[in-house]
Amino acid sequence: MKKRIFSGAQPTGRLHLGNYLGALKNWVALQDEYDSIFCIVNLHALTLPQNPKTLRQKTLDLARIYLAASIDPEKATIFIQADVPEHAELTWILLCTARMGELERMTQFKDKSQKGGRERSSVGLFTYPALMAADILLYHTDLVPVGQDQKQHLELTRDLAERFNRDFGETFVIPEPYIPKSGANIRSLQDPAKKMSKSDENEAGAIFLDDDADTISKKIKRAVTDSGTEINFDETRPAIHNLLTIYQLVTGKTEQECVENFAGKGYGQFKGELAEAVVEYLRPFQERISAYDDAELNRILRTGAEKARSIASVTLADAYQKTGIR
Ligand code: AMP
Ligand code: TRP
Repeated sequence: MKKRIFSGAQPTGRLHLGNYLGALKNWVALQDEYDSIFCIVNLHALTLPQNPKTLRQKTLDLARIYLAASIDPEKATIFIQADVPEHAELTWILLCTARMGELERMTQFKDKSQKGGRERSSVGLFTYPALMAADILLYHTDLVPVGQDQKQHLELTRDLAERFNRDFGETFVIPEPYIPKSGANIRSLQDPAKKMSKSDENEAGAIFLDDDADTISKKIKRAVTDSGTEINFDETRPAIHNLLTIYQLVTGKTEQECVENFAGKGYGQFKGELAEAVVEYLRPFQERISAYDDAELNRILRTGAEKARSIASVTLADAYQKTGIR
């Protein structure tokens, strides 16, 4: 029996190179070896205000992105979270398992609630990690490939599963995070102290997956650099470290090959080569993105939801039985 992976992304904002290198790329690499389930987490999207029409469109667009990134619907299950109502149902059980203090420690809530203020944040934003835990635990997931920013949510998922198993008897598999050594933490091109993000007000900080060649080149040319001239993987020079990491991941070269390639060259030449490499890397993805029409997407998502539901309903029934609900 193959081990199982589960992961997901929110159908909000525009996906960027950080999402691709930190998450999608690894999902694709793992789909042959693992029984793979990839979710479009539209319920999570509601934790912040959304326009209903845009949300519906972005949900379908994210399915298109998964497919264009080479997730193969013949191998992997792709579905929309809300099409499987068991996610919302198990969330309630896990909310009753979680402690206020645990959720209060979540740094993503602290970050995301800062903008509008804690008092005005939705309660959904606060309880978001319990929904994420339900996503993962419903499928007896072994491994969860995500970027570094999701590590804390994964730890909470493990804690909730362990607590439930201890209180009610063996029910959930304890999942392991899969966070790549390189690429899990791509930084903003404008401020390496921040992560590359969908919600950054400064669009120049992120390379979006649908940026054209010209926009990509301009953003890379304008990217901030560090003092000094050397192009190497020095952690104390985070801007160059980030750009070189991107170069390494999109070219598939080793660290040493990257450093040798740019020995004695200036920042200008480095940025030129980097821009070219990123454009080439995204080209096949961008060519495929328009290949799927809505009818085909809907068919894939319907099949995916049926398959997901057949697994999720058994796990939920077990959790309901163990807790005395049914
Ligand atoms: P989200 O955009 O929050 O739905 O995230 C989707 C996936 O992309 C998650 O696995 C994140 O951990 C990952 N991710 C988001 N931003 C970055 C980044 N700057 N670097 C690496 N991975 C990221
Ligand atoms: N919280 C994740 C993010 O913002 C998305 C997500 C929701 C997820 N449910 C998940 C990721 C389950 C992995 C597994 O990136």
